[in-house]
Amino acid sequence: MYFLELGGEDDAFARCESRQAATGVRPLAPGLALANAISNDRLRGLAYTHRASSLLGHTDASLESARALLETASLERTGSVAVRATDVHGSSGISPTRTERELGSVLVERGFSVDLDDPDHVLRAAFSMGQLDDRDEQGDLFEAADDESSGGESVSVCALGWLAAESVRDFGSRAPTDKPFFQPGSMDPLLARAVVNIAGAGPGRTVLDPMCGTGGVLVEAGLVGADVLGTDAQAKMVAGARTNLAHFLDDSSPSPTGVSCGDWHVARGDGTRLPVADSSVDSVVFDAPYGRQSKIETHRLEDLVAGALAEARRVADRAVVVADRSWASAARDAGWELEAAFERRVHRSLTRYVLVLSAKS
Ligand SMILES: C[S@@+](CC[C@H](N)C(=O)[O-])C[C@H]1O[C@@H](n2cnc3c(N)ncnc32)[C@H](O)[C@@H]1O
Repeated sequence: MYFLELGGEDDAFARCESRQAATGVRPLAPGLALANAISNDRLRGLAYTHRASSLLGHTDASLESARALLETASLERTGSVAVRATDVHGSSGISPTRTERELGSVLVERGFSVDLDDPDHVLRAAFSMGQLDDRDEQGDLFEAADDESSGGESVSVCALGWLAAESVRDFGSRAPTDKPFFQPGSMDPLLARAVVNIAGAGPGRTVLDPMCGTGGVLVEAGLVGADVLGTDAQAKMVAGARTNLAHFLDDSSPSPTGVSCGDWHVARGDGTRLPVADSSVDSVVFDAPYGRQSKIETHRLEDLVAGALAEARRVADRAVVVADRSWASAARDAGWELEAAFERRVHRSLTRYVLVLSAKS
């Protein structure tokens, strides 16, 4: 079994993404989840999971309990070690430095040498206290998210485990404003990576963004190995997306996540009339225009989103839609089933909604 260290403020969203790289994911404590098995390769490409560690056990969030657990755990390794501790969201008040010292001395007593610079094994100790966010991805989560009283049980957890895999944290190098082509309204690479992962992007898969803008979604899907297709109604965006995709994906060396970047193709087109055959892509991901930020070509916003949802359903069985409002009923009208829905507050005047859609069974 493994424990996952999640990032961001929405554990349910992070767990949803992590399911592309792990099985049996379930909440453990704020910022922490348990999983039965992981794919190391896929975990490297996650946005909202930082690490997975092979679980030695978990106790309540106290240093004494963590010590006792480590003194008796079956360790089954030899070599040098380093202990790295974290207090998730500062919730337990337990000092990571003291934890690293104390648990390190337990490991020395148990026959390990300590090498802080280049250890053979890293022991992760994660403390977390607070209300368990056990909302998961069934039904309409917007209601649960709005309901202040829906907090889960109070938990106090320390998870101990051997570090097994870490995600590559290179998103800062692709900040929208630092890309060769930038326009306001570009999607942040962290959110873009999460949504393409949720859509199932990876080697051997094809992802289509019918309103690709600067190509923020397509770049992240290409970097995890998917072949990507984009259309946009504006010639300026098509040219800009091509510039960005060439910059980030036209590299024959493996991407930082260790896979070959996917092929890409971008054309000018209307997202409500896509130039691709029925059921020809694995998933569609798009960021609907917000009206005030993105020029809406020829359509009212409602018609554009309804038309794009219907086209997405024609060409794929899975879609993830990001928008400044829910669009859940438009998605149902277009023949989609709402698999999950998340509400993400970007800043005071902008909330982003993420809909995860699958074909009605
Ligand atoms: C919110 S932006 C997409 C941003 C993009 N995800 C990014 O990271 O840059 C929406 C895009 O939809 C495009 N658009 C508007 N109407 C369209 C239509 N009918 N067909 C295709 N694209 C359209 C706009 O030109 C704009 O680039």
